[in-house]
Amino acid sequence: MTQLLITDVAPRDGLQNQPTDLPTADKAWLVQALADCGLPRIEATSFVSPQAVPRMADAPALMAAVAPLAASHLCVLTPNLKGLARAAQAGAQEVCVVLSATETMNRRNIRMGLDEAEATCREVLAQARDMRLRSRAYVAVAFACPYEGATPPEVTLRLARRMAEGGADEVVIADTIGAAHPGEVQALARIAVDELGAQRVGIHLHDTRGLGLANAWAAMQAGVRRFDSSAGGVGGCPFAPGAAGNLATEDLVWLAQASGYETGVDLPALMRVIDEFGRRLGQPLGGRSHAWLRRHLGLADAGSLQ
Ligand code: COA
Ligand code: ZN
Repeated sequence: MTQLLITDVAPRDGLQNQPTDLPTADKAWLVQALADCGLPRIEATSFVSPQAVPRMADAPALMAAVAPLAASHLCVLTPNLKGLARAAQAGAQEVCVVLSATETMNRRNIRMGLDEAEATCREVLAQARDMRLRSRAYVAVAFACPYEGATPPEVTLRLARRMAEGGADEVVIADTIGAAHPGEVQALARIAVDELGAQRVGIHLHDTRGLGLANAWAAMQAGVRRFDSSAGGVGGCPFAPGAAGNLATEDLVWLAQASGYETGVDLPALMRVIDEFGRRLGQPLGGRSHAWLRRHLGLADAGSLQ
């Protein structure tokens, strides 16, 4: 069976923008619980300015709390050299840089223009390689930007190539605001997979307009085998207005199972984790298939949260 590699980004992309601050111990529980469900990689946190993203201020403490879990399961966001140094100090083995495809999004997100952002990403990638850390490079707002509108596919592809040349082990095409549609996802993903190889291409989807699963399917058909999703669909970017929930991991796992792809994820166990995660976060979570999956898998009602 064809294998998909899912990275659950709930602890980072999911939690960075929540109204409530989840205690570090609960974040550590979530990371461990997702790993126990069979998720091969989890984006655990980000090493960014605590002024910019207060919810991720506990990154070093979280890394210490999940230390019993092999760091090889985790990746962390490090948008600049200071973030890389802090992450390495905390024991990270895989780091992610983020290069937005537009001038304005880079400025809003990391307070650098596109050229400076690209140069910084390349420096972080080069140093990460010297430190023998694995790396991922997000190309954010790859299809549309909340400030500049549609992103031309050739711009995204150019930046994806540059990140690959810069040494990124994986280049992640990110639909940060969930504005892509399946035709353009398939067309762009096909070129990226042809040029870089399936081992080096990931896709990061949001479900803002209800096309998350359709876009995931389009990417699968184009040969993409690495997907980002978020348990319970929790997510959003503080610097990208309109960025709603991420593609839900349970939806993606269900699509994969139904279509004959292997993910290694124990779906009933994941559903139980999502219920508990919702309880700890104080809000109901769940992707599009959640209610049906709950009945189908014979899981107990999650009570007042559902
Ligand atoms: N971790 C912790 N602190 C950091 C840091 C990092 N990676 N990078 C910079 N800082 C600190 C500096 O030490 C400085 O602190 P001080 O005021 O106490 O001296 C302060 O932040 C400002 O530093 P500066 O280099 O001028 O950064 P900036 O203000 O231009 O901000 C970023 C740049 C990238 C640090 C900031 O925009 C950021 O963290 N953005 C978050 C991006 C993000 O997570 N987006 C969502 C997901 S894509
Ligand atoms: Zn995202």
